[in-house]
Amino acid sequence: MIRFSDGFLSTIRDRIPLSDIVGRRVSWDRRKSRPAKGDHWACCPFHGEKTPSFHVDDRKGRYHCFGCSASGDHFRFLMDMDGLSFPEAVEQLAGEAGLSMPAPDPEAARRQQARLKLNDVLDLAATYFERHLHAPEGQHALTYAQGRGLDESVRKTFRIGFAPDKRDGLIGFLKSHDVPAGDMIDAGLAIAPDDGARAPYDRFRGRLMVTIEDMRGKVVGFGGRVLGDGEPKYLNSPETELFRKREMLFNGQRARQAAHQSGRLIVVEGYMDAIALHRSGFQEVAASLGTALGEEQIALMWRFTDEPIICFDGDGAGQGAAHRAIDRALPLLKPGKSLRFLFLPKGMDPDDFVSQHGPEAFEAELGQAVPMIEALWARETATLDVSTPERMAAFQTNLSRIVAGIEDATVRRHYDQDLKDRFYAIRRAMRQAQNPHSSRPAGRGRSGDVPGLAGVQTRKAPSLVTPELQLLALASHFPDSAQTFADRDVFHLCPDAELARRLEVALQGRTESSDPPAEDEIGLDAMPFPILKQQASPRFVGMLFSFLFAKLELRAIDDDAASMLAMEPDAIDEQMMERLVAIQDESRAMRAQIAELERELDEEASVMRSLAVKASG
Ligand code: UTP
Ligand code: MN
Repeated sequence: MIRFSDGFLSTIRDRIPLSDIVGRRVSWDRRKSRPAKGDHWACCPFHGEKTPSFHVDDRKGRYHCFGCSASGDHFRFLMDMDGLSFPEAVEQLAGEAGLSMPAPDPEAARRQQARLKLNDVLDLAATYFERHLHAPEGQHALTYAQGRGLDESVRKTFRIGFAPDKRDGLIGFLKSHDVPAGDMIDAGLAIAPDDGARAPYDRFRGRLMVTIEDMRGKVVGFGGRVLGDGEPKYLNSPETELFRKREMLFNGQRARQAAHQSGRLIVVEGYMDAIALHRSGFQEVAASLGTALGEEQIALMWRFTDEPIICFDGDGAGQGAAHRAIDRALPLLKPGKSLRFLFLPKGMDPDDFVSQHGPEAFEAELGQAVPMIEALWARETATLDVSTPERMAAFQTNLSRIVAGIEDATVRRHYDQDLKDRFYAIRRAMRQAQNPHSSRPAGRGRSGDVPGLAGVQTRKAPSLVTPELQLLALASHFPDSAQTFADRDVFHLCPDAELARRLEVALQGRTESSDPPAEDEIGLDAMPFPILKQQASPRFVGMLFSFLFAKLELRAIDDDAASMLAMEPDAIDEQMMERLVAIQDESRAMRAQIAELERELDEEASVMRSLAVKASG
């Protein structure tokens, strides 16, 4: 690798304003930018957004996105934006700055030359394949391509071609362009027989050819499909210096541009899937090239967008692939960076789906993509057996092991909390199932049902029965206990001012006898604890008041957090970040308090029940 002196690099930075380079890829926000001060703002080209939080400072020669934290200098920008290597970025900008490149060391120069040569050779090959698709011998391939919906414009875009069924068709063509046999082999186009005695032969014969380009749009390899049935279905270029399957995405360059506009990236498995979606108007689509997703591919996807949607076929193989993707991505998760999972109906790949059901239906499917945490939870609970303490413990240990694998401390903490919440919901549900007559308040409002626990469900309170309505009912039936809570600030906790007023009146033990009963009023029947109708102790009623108030407070806290999270990223400063973290801590503490109160209520209720049984027996 050439080593560039700092002087050389800073001369380039000084000669070209960073905003010149970035300005080719973004449109500046005129109102926010101060060009005279070298101060430019735009929507970030590295993540989808609608208001500008991407800042370029020409004086410092650096950019920074306040939304996704992308930052760097001239060279970093070209590397991240165009997928150039560092030396390539330097070379390009040196040219623009009117500087000649420092003399490279001979080895690096040779490698660079070799890559350029291979790119050219591959490009020639693509041209050869394209031509033959439209030659008489490619007639059946063209018919096949058309049958799969590859119309002319798609064929052009993806440089679809045909490799004639000849031993040395391509080799002959490349020879006529003075390409040495060694280069054909290095490019993965020709295969040299092991014995070394016989001449090399064409790797691709009698196949429909899909051209694979890198992030700069340079040809790096091919996928060749048999026409009809046959094995292997796809024959791909071998790994070469240019073609590293696990590090690249098919259609990556086009997908990146589209992803920046739509703020979304769809990742599929097959070439044909990517092509079919592209044709159907989903330009932000890339394919993973058949192998399980690699680390580099995930990192690449995150440069396009925060939460790429990974599509899987709805069959066993798709499930398996999704599980591997979860394992691969978990350790890599970063704040804001995750994956979403889309499972298509059984036996359908994205190509089948969009061809049969159309783009609108696919768009609707995209809306069903589940977050990482849900896919993970579904996987971990698919065959859940927590019927003994040991199995419960094994399940819990497994969850801890998963959490421990997350490298980012903040993400790890949040996964830990979320999985714990779910775990305890399951445990409560188990107890409830084992003791169906014990009544308990509905769990906190995630979903009511515990996913993955078929048949065992937590009870879900009808959503109209809000904590404030429950408080209202409680206060009107237990005016004495209500007095203790008369000074609570209900207006702050209850967004419906009229309801807050009624609640205040009820808590103070005043009655408004002239009012007819309100429509939304609930009786003790609708309360979570039937024991209330028999002989609830004042202690129990007091605890229930505290419990319901805690729920109101939690809701207020979570609403605060949600409205902060909904703010534009550039409106959030450090102070607000601190406040947000504090709010989230408060929320967690409040949840813990609610869980504790709920447990105490359960206990108290069972004590009262046994007393009632004794009294009657
Ligand atoms: P699929 O078999 O799902 O391919 O393999 P597909 O795109 O749906 O193909 P069609 O619709 O039958 O033409 C998904 C991807 O796995 C890789 C290819 O990248 C393919 O697009 N693959 C598959 C291979 O590399 N070799 C194979 O033999 C099969
Ligand atoms: Mn297919």
